[in-house]
Amino acid sequence: MRFFRQTGSKVKRSQLVEFSFNGTTYFGHLGESVTVALAANGIITTRMAHDGSARGAFCFMGTCQECVLLIGGLRIEACQVALSEGLIVQSIGSLYEEPKAKGGKNV
Ligand code: FES
Repeated sequence: MRFFRQTGSKVKRSQLVEFSFNGTTYFGHLGESVTVALAANGIITTRMAHDGSARGAFCFMGTCQECVLLIGGLRIEACQVALSEGLIVQSIGSLYEEPKAKGGKNV
């Protein structure tokens, strides 16, 4: 599997590509960052902190490390990886769960 560091504005809005996140298939625009593609698919929480709080991308420039995911088997900042066809993206750590509002219901 190949993936590329985000190197600037090379997003091809006319070309949709398929990728997976935690085993579910999604689509995004070729060249956009993985974090942007996830957010465009409604996924802003990519992992859970030790205290159970939801975590996700914050700085979108490779500094905060909040977006680190397993991409192609490597731990890497998802905001710095350009989306490409067939990319396999996974959460790190405990299994990802949608955050629930108090009382156990999704908001
Ligand atoms: S969002 Fe901060 S390093 Fe990716």
